[in-house]
Amino acid sequence: MVLFFSATGNTEFIADNIAKDIGDESLDLLERIKRSDFSDIYSEKPFIICAPIYVCEMPRFLAAYLKKVRLLGNRLVYFVFTSGGYTGIAPVLAKRMVRKKGMIYMGRAEFKMPRNYPLSDRYRLLSDEEDMERIRASYRKIPRVEALIKKEKYLKGRHVFLFELMITLPYNPLWVRYNQPSKPFYATDKCIGCHKCEKVCPLNNIYFDDKYPKWKSSCAHCMACYSSCPKEAIEYGDKTLGKKRYRLDKYADKEGKALH
Ligand SMILES: Cc1cc2nc3c(=O)[nH]c(=O)nc-3n(C[C@H](O)[C@H](O)[C@H](O)COP(=O)(O)O)c2cc1C
Repeated sequence: MVLFFSATGNTEFIADNIAKDIGDESLDLLERIKRSDFSDIYSEKPFIICAPIYVCEMPRFLAAYLKKVRLLGNRLVYFVFTSGGYTGIAPVLAKRMVRKKGMIYMGRAEFKMPRNYPLSDRYRLLSDEEDMERIRASYRKIPRVEALIKKEKYLKGRHVFLFELMITLPYNPLWVRYNQPSKPFYATDKCIGCHKCEKVCPLNNIYFDDKYPKWKSSCAHCMACYSSCPKEAIEYGDKTLGKKRYRLDKYADKEGKALH
């Protein structure tokens, strides 16, 4: 079974394609995470966990969910990461998690996908052409990964160095705590009160007390609200003004073909 979380569509694109091609189900974990639904998940076939990378690791709320939920049936666990190009220490943490569950870690595949984070001063959003190039290249890579999974072969990846762990492990909690405030989020008067932002927020961090959404304090900056808003009414201080709102399905169809 393919399990995934995806805020802006990259991971969903890869997960759904893998599930379709290998004839397996794909399960979007969003609703389970939102409802704290930790009921067992059973699969006859290997588990394939697909996740985006946030600040060099899997989203912390996703890792916390996966640690708690029981995965029954098949004992093999593959990971598939989508990122802007650097998956950091995610493979090491994934391996550790799987071992703690008493399951068998089968390695990971990595897909370099469009960047979806408009708030970084360091990593700019890419042009539409660059985004499409990455989507096409990833689509072409999927069969190679599937062939290995079908044969139950280990997915090899680059070595994660000790210094990466030494930097990331202490740094990440500080980054997540101090560099991801949700206070600057607001909805402009383009907001139609459709509640989409509330529905897509994995942390239930958005509520409505009048026509407009409000943000509480536990935000992972996943950008699901910002990118999914049908009226492009969500902004983050002045950092997002005039920037594009990346979501894969605005650019490509399910086979990675450009929509425009
Ligand atoms: C909060 C946040 C942090 C991110 N950190 C990284 C990172 O450390 N390395 C990287 O290569 N990409 C990073 N990205 C980019 C995403 O991993 C990438 O765009 C991913 O494919 C998004 O998946 P999704 O569309 O399924 O949500 C980050 C994105 C967000 C929103």
